[in-house]
Amino acid sequence: MSGGLGPLPWGYVRRFGRVVFRQQQWKSTVSTHPKMPPCDFVPEKYKSYPYERIQKIREQNISPSLRMYYKKPLLLHQGHMQWLFDYEGRRYLDLFAGIVTVSVGHCHPKVTVATQKQLARLWHTTNIYMHPSIHEYAEKLASLFPDPLKVIYLTNSGSEANDLAMFMARLHTHNFDIISFRGSYHGGSPYTLGLTSIGPYKHGVANGFGCSTTMLPDVFRGPWGGRHCRDSPVQTLRKCSCSKGVCHANNQYIEQFKDTLNTSVPKTIAGFIAEPIQVQTGFGRTGSHFWGFQTHDVVPDIVTLAKGIGNGFPMAAVVTTKEIANSLAQNLHFNTFGGSPLACVVGAAVLDAIEEDGLQKNSRDVGTYMLLELAKLRDKFEIVGDVRGKGLMIGVEMVTDKHSRHPLPAEEINQIWEDCKDMGVLLGRGGLYNQTFRIKPPMCITKKDVDFAVEVFHTALQRHMERAAK
Ligand SMILES: Cc1ncc(COP(=O)(O)O)c(C=O)c1O
Repeated sequence: MSGGLGPLPWGYVRRFGRVVFRQQQWKSTVSTHPKMPPCDFVPEKYKSYPYERIQKIREQNISPSLRMYYKKPLLLHQGHMQWLFDYEGRRYLDLFAGIVTVSVGHCHPKVTVATQKQLARLWHTTNIYMHPSIHEYAEKLASLFPDPLKVIYLTNSGSEANDLAMFMARLHTHNFDIISFRGSYHGGSPYTLGLTSIGPYKHGVANGFGCSTTMLPDVFRGPWGGRHCRDSPVQTLRKCSCSKGVCHANNQYIEQFKDTLNTSVPKTIAGFIAEPIQVQTGFGRTGSHFWGFQTHDVVPDIVTLAKGIGNGFPMAAVVTTKEIANSLAQNLHFNTFGGSPLACVVGAAVLDAIEEDGLQKNSRDVGTYMLLELAKLRDKFEIVGDVRGKGLMIGVEMVTDKHSRHPLPAEEINQIWEDCKDMGVLLGRGGLYNQTFRIKPPMCITKKDVDFAVEVFHTALQRHMERAAK
């Protein structure tokens, strides 16, 4: 899975040759119209511009490098927890959460009320004065990190947080080189683009000085991988001869990393940036821990947070040690909006909602349930190559067949994806070939929602098999 938007679905995908596999005669065993779980919320009537006018403005006045999902892009109007409503009042189960950002639910009532109160009190001062909310928030956020990660910088976006982390690592170590995983997304700023390793995001201008990549330990598509590699309820179907407690794939990928150290960088480096699972693993989403790095039993020197931190409010953070922070304190460092009273109140309300609504536990219970249900579809359909993840951080990789593991051609994946949308389920996309469905919903979804989503996906797969059999 790649981060960010993922490479672009329509007409932007590198293709693999199609491997033909034995077609089965597919008989429909699933309902043709899976029934959405009920929802009491009634959206307001849409009163803004007509769809066509919105499209025209988009063509004329909005950045053409922003691409949209779906043949007929959705015009969304309102959100409530795990649900989105379009301009015609149609309801969708949102399994992508604004690219893994709406952590506790769209317009979560408690976060909304806290934000509204702060909106009426004080929006902005900059940090040349003190205001209580940054202190309350910094204390709350720091309490969730192990020692010595106790110093917080608040920024406005993930790219800015990663920029700052790179800068700090370089300043503190007096080294320049940073290594990232191939296939990763770390942002679109000129600095972070050097770490981002997804072709379509690369532009033909000089960038990425001091940035090198190393092989991603992808135990499904990579050269090594077996049945016991993952910290996940679902393993790959690859054959494996490892005995218990031994993982040859792990050793091989570490060798690749050593190779990068020996061939691509100087003796000492400024840092290695990695996501615990490619892509967003913080705020309880993996279920077992609050932060993804905790599942690996390591304490990084710097942690960056974005996306789910603000449930959609633009904010991000860098968390580090006092010692590293002191290296940046040799000179001034300042940003205007980071840590605004508004952002800090939102951030604190999100942390409260995660705790009060039991969302880490919900991620573990509902996520594990979903992973296991999806694994049944992987066992049934040849084109579902892999199901992976932890908690509510799930990837479903589509292939031509399980043997070759070649990505399913774009037009076939696109149709399955469109069908899911038409039945009311929004999925994300990712992977170098855009071959992976990304499922990272607001952490408030229920098992009933999962049953619905799995039935929709099942129906879309069934329809695909019926088309392929014609
Ligand atoms: C893993 C990761 N890092 C960094 C970023 C960049 O964050 P932003 O878009 O807020 O700049 C993203 C965004 O998709 C991301 O997924």
